Amino acid sequence: VLVVDEDEEALSILRGAVGPQGGRLHITPSPAVALDLLREASFDLVIANSSLPGISGLLLLREIRRTYPSLPFLLMSSHPTVEEAVEAMRLGAVDYVGKPLCPQRLSLLLNRLSAGKRGRAVTDLLIAASPAMQQIFQIITRVAATDATVFITGESGTGKEVVAQALHQLSKRREKSYVRVNCAAVPDTLLESEFFGHEKGAFTGAHARKMGRFESANGGTLLLDEVTEIPTTLQPKLLRALQEREFERVGGTQPLQVDVRVVATSNRNLEQALRTGLLREDLYYRLNVIPLHLPPLRDRREDILPLARHFLAGEKQLADEAAAALLAHDWPGNVRELANVIQRSSILADQEVIRELRF
Ligand SMILES: Nc1ncnc2c1ncn2[C@@H]1O[C@H](COP(=O)(O)OP(=O)(O)O)[C@@H](O)[C@H]1O
Ligand SMILES: [Mg+2]
Repeated sequence: VLVVDEDEEALSILRGAVGPQGGRLHITPSPAVALDLLREASFDLVIANSSLPGISGLLLLREIRRTYPSLPFLLMSSHPTVEEAVEAMRLGAVDYVGKPLCPQRLSLLLNRLSAGKRGRAVTDLLIAASPAMQQIFQIITRVAATDATVFITGESGTGKEVVAQALHQLSKRREKSYVRVNCAAVPDTLLESEFFGHEKGAFTGAHARKMGRFESANGGTLLLDEVTEIPTTLQPKLLRALQEREFERVGGTQPLQVDVRVVATSNRNLEQALRTGLLREDLYYRLNVIPLHLPPLRDRREDILPLARHFLAGEKQLADEAAAALLAHDWPGNVRELANVIQRSSILADQEVIRELRF
């Protein structure tokens, strides 16, 4: 990132936003030096102050556009005006922001730009406005690019599965398969075969060889949904598969190798699950490489209205009193409950405006 400014406050906010995303800042107060630097190296983004020695930020933008028509450019101003904003956008600036800079807005812009190079952004897949979720968005963006195992925890309905999908969508594995095993829904006796597959005749009812979920997910992402529901007897086998990326089909003798990225979720309190022996400690450590905890919706109320609008999808409007009621509710069922309330209220409202909520 090339920064053309000398305002220490702005520079320190920029350092705080760019550094954690693995970016590097090149700083100069001089537009002439900035143009020289652009000739010498390749930059992903230019951030400039609107008033600069000798020339305005807008003029610098116009100058840069001549040679670099698509280089993202962000203009900042201590005294933002509508006219300058309009002119900056007309010249193709990616954003025009007032000082002091908002770190969250900067992080989102950086996310968008770096994801733009890869195709998609986390903000295309998930809705959130709260600082807590913005921080999670940053982690998702960074971790998606790796093969690290992610363990997503949070109450039911907080969005664990959508986050798992986002991790896959934003990864280089997105063209490959995304396979989910709902560990809570498969009977204990069938879970091993569900994971690893079985050979013909391995057990009563095994009429043909069957591929397991680990094999189907080869090259892609495997979601172990509600992993704390796996019986303790099966946990050592799962541990081995995670450690070695190797397993045998039930009734088989030949070890199979796979390349899968593993994401796990649980809505349980993990400390308690460990204490009561529900989850083996060795498996926990193997899964918990990157922990991601999704806070309950009642602890991130800034997300309620953006999510509600997302679920309304422009079909109906929310009256002020309905919006207030949404904000006041405690949402024990989290985002899933909100989606249901919005859908129900929208269907039952006889006008274009929703005044009454159906909880
Ligand atoms: N941040 C979000 N943005 C958009 N939709 C969300 C978000 N979080 C949750 N949802 C929606 O809420 C519902 C519940 O999410 P889900 O991932 O199934 O929760 P969990 O697995 O934690 O129980 C789904 O319909 C999902 O699409
Ligand atoms: Mg779920």
